[in-house]
Amino acid sequence: MRRLRGRLLQPLVQENFISKADLVAPLFVDETADNPLPIASMPGQFRYPAGGLVQAVQGLRVKGIPAILLFGIPAHKNPGATEAFNPSGIVQQAVRSIKAAVPDMVIITDVCACEYTDHGHCGIIATGPHGPDLDNDRSLELMAEIAVSHARAGADIVAPSCMLDGMVAAVRTALDDAGYTDTAIMSYSTKFDSALYGPFREAADSGFAFGDRSTYQINPANGREAVRESELDALEGADILMVKPAGFYLDLVAAIRGYGLPIAAYQVSGEYAMIKAAAGQGWINEKKVVMESLLCIKRAGADLIITYFAGDAAGWIDEEQ
Ligand code: PBG
Ligand code: ZN
Repeated sequence: MRRLRGRLLQPLVQENFISKADLVAPLFVDETADNPLPIASMPGQFRYPAGGLVQAVQGLRVKGIPAILLFGIPAHKNPGATEAFNPSGIVQQAVRSIKAAVPDMVIITDVCACEYTDHGHCGIIATGPHGPDLDNDRSLELMAEIAVSHARAGADIVAPSCMLDGMVAAVRTALDDAGYTDTAIMSYSTKFDSALYGPFREAADSGFAFGDRSTYQINPANGREAVRESELDALEGADILMVKPAGFYLDLVAAIRGYGLPIAAYQVSGEYAMIKAAAGQGWINEKKVVMESLLCIKRAGADLIITYFAGDAAGWIDEEQ
């Protein structure tokens, strides 16, 4: 094996590469912020006010990042998450201003209610036999409404993340009925009930007032169920499937490539925080660990990588060329 590991020949046989063209940067836009607010558990990440957001997007585009994934934090939350589909809501406004200022940036919007409900769950709550829980079908109507409002504002791709049954079909039908047949759907198809979302819930102010998300997100113990969940989203019309988190779940990235759809992997807030914390202590080499993590996500079979390291990685990719 070592014949091909020599300095001269090794690059010739390298199987996988990270390209800036595959990277998606998640960004938070906060209706209540006047200045970029640092997120304590995610050093280097901010909640941007609408204006600052456009600047940040411009910066990422200049670095060669082709796409962003947008999350909104509204000034007002309520049980029906009505700010989520407000035509002049924070995400809808942000999408319009980014499209105007940086037209060649692909805009993906997270379609969910957890930042907009006062209870912090991903849809409408109803009391069932086991107490309060997400009401699947009423929440589907909400997701459809949110997705159409994002498409109307100019989103290129909507990304439903609520893990409701039928969410992709509901969003596809609503988009088509409203005339947005070209708006693509990136489904959070393979989303686990992971403890790695902790820092995000601080960042997006989407922690829940009761219960947890285990009645709608996938049990991390279940691989076959995750494959079936992904298959259903493919059949419902998803254009891109997503595995989330990424690093602990690469077996699923490999498993769901069979549907022929592009696969996205989301390196989530907890994965970012772990690397940042260890690097901050000087215990690991940040650049090397980040690039290794991204390369391994690629090797598992991801076409797109959603990562808070997108901007930094773009710089490191440039250095190596
Ligand atoms: C909303 C949503 C979450 C994340 C993305 N979309 C949080 C959750 O499901 O609680 C997590 C992203 C991250 O941790 O970086 N449903
Ligand atoms: Zn949610």
